[in-house]
Amino acid sequence: MSTKRKTPEDLRSHRWYGVNDLRSFGHRSRTAQMGYSREEYAGKPVIAILNTWSEINPCHTHFKQRVEEVKRGIWQAGGFPVELPVQTLSEPFQKPTTMLYRNFLAMEVEETLRSYPADGVVLMGGCDKTTPALLMGAISMDLPAIFLPAGPMLNGNWNGRTLGSGSDTWKYWADLRAGKITEDDWKGVEGGIARSPGHCMTMGTASTMTSAAEALGFTLPGFASIPAPDSRHAQMSAQTGMRIVEMVWEDLKPSDILTAQSVDNAVTTCLALSGSTNAIVHMIALARRAGIELTLGRYDDISRRTPVLANVRPTGQYLMEDFYYAGGLRAMLKELGELIDGTQRTVNGKTLGENIADAEIYSGEVIRRRATPVMPDTGLAVLRGNLAPDGAVIKPGAADPKLHVHTGRAVVFRDYNDMAARIDDEALDIDESCVIVLQHAGPVGAPGMPEWGQLPIPKKLLQQGVRDMLRISDARMSGTSYGACVLHVAPESFIGGPLALVKDGDLIELDVPGRRLNVLISDEEMARRRAAWVAPPPRFTRGYGAMHQIHVMQADKGCDFDFLQREGAGACGAAGG
Ligand code: FES
Ligand code: MG
Repeated sequence: MSTKRKTPEDLRSHRWYGVNDLRSFGHRSRTAQMGYSREEYAGKPVIAILNTWSEINPCHTHFKQRVEEVKRGIWQAGGFPVELPVQTLSEPFQKPTTMLYRNFLAMEVEETLRSYPADGVVLMGGCDKTTPALLMGAISMDLPAIFLPAGPMLNGNWNGRTLGSGSDTWKYWADLRAGKITEDDWKGVEGGIARSPGHCMTMGTASTMTSAAEALGFTLPGFASIPAPDSRHAQMSAQTGMRIVEMVWEDLKPSDILTAQSVDNAVTTCLALSGSTNAIVHMIALARRAGIELTLGRYDDISRRTPVLANVRPTGQYLMEDFYYAGGLRAMLKELGELIDGTQRTVNGKTLGENIADAEIYSGEVIRRRATPVMPDTGLAVLRGNLAPDGAVIKPGAADPKLHVHTGRAVVFRDYNDMAARIDDEALDIDESCVIVLQHAGPVGAPGMPEWGQLPIPKKLLQQGVRDMLRISDARMSGTSYGACVLHVAPESFIGGPLALVKDGDLIELDVPGRRLNVLISDEEMARRRAAWVAPPPRFTRGYGAMHQIHVMQADKGCDFDFLQREGAGACGAAGG
């Protein structure tokens, strides 16, 4: 950020509109074609509003209205709003997984901003991958950028029972499979679990990443916690529009906001929320876009010192609407005290510390005090060993504690279809002490590292009352899921990682306190199996899929494309263009 305010001639859009040449004639005459006279835009910052609204994204239904509120704010502050639709990345609908397309949206964001006359940008997202994708693209482009979080939907409700996105889907599905509820009950759950616009209201990827965006400094203070239908969400949208215009004049860019400390703040936030494990992959990717090296080791260090304060499902009991009424993210950040670096700058021009100074906790049950946390630490653990030389992760708080230290016999599925075909087979040789292993579910192999990591428990064991088992894969898991699921095993099996070499009957040892994950075979046996391993044929031979397969990095590097990352801390901030 420079100390000198920009002048209209300094604006990037001046090159499109302000100069006197043949091209600028074209830009002005075509703007006139859209019904604008010169007075409406000349010398004003052009604010790109990147909107991920679509008719297939239920989490962003209200964005059609919110974008009007953003525009209202931009007009009032003397800017010129231009709404640009970008990929919608609808978590419930897009196959095989939105994760396959996160980098695609990030590229679209960067190139849209580069190729059009944008002086600043409002990023409208919230449904899982939209948040990291929008931020990654904006960080690489480094124009003044502010994030508008979609906000959580209202609490679900069915027959007087509160329902949470994802979590209760898994819970009642298991109950249905075990014969504990009827088909009619299941239909009732279907009708009541998502009853307003907004993203998942459990602590899934959406709530985790929008909160991380706020902790990073990319939203107006308090915005991430406001439920989508709340009129305060609309008010905050208009204020976001007003603020971005001022940010352009101040030249306040992502590179002024992102530091190793603000990234640590966001990681601390994710962990204190007991947020989605997906956030690990996204936080690593977006930090690397800024040239900040965030490692799994750093994540584990921060995890060990960070208490879980948010009593929100699936780790806790409540939902995002309750979290908002309890004081919201600002109150939780304040309670974290010295674990948060309050000196970090945010989009409103103030520091994070200033933004949370007057926050209060209104329910110590929903937002816990440091003295009475939901869990004292280990909202997340990074594991290493001969099964995951580059790391794997588990959320111990979401797992049955008796599985935190466990050795069991592997039951291996070579891919998702194999698992789907055999998991409920009565003849499958499996009991609750076994370790379910799924191969070929990683970034390259699946492809796109889908949320398959909550591997199903065999029906016959469910009927015996088994509710948790140790499960291991190179997939991700929905943040709304739970269970003793080891995820993100790197390197992945499809490219020959050790997970590819595990066989039925091998003993696998998990030790969460010791942070270990090993398959109990000798190095010689491992080497023999590696020598015999045959690489599977590529998933794609053309198109985006082929590009993804060639360039996607492993989970411990954030699954960004190798040609999009920046290496070397402190390198944040070139681009522009
Ligand atoms: Fe959009 Fe969960 S489906 S956030
Ligand atoms: Mg999700």
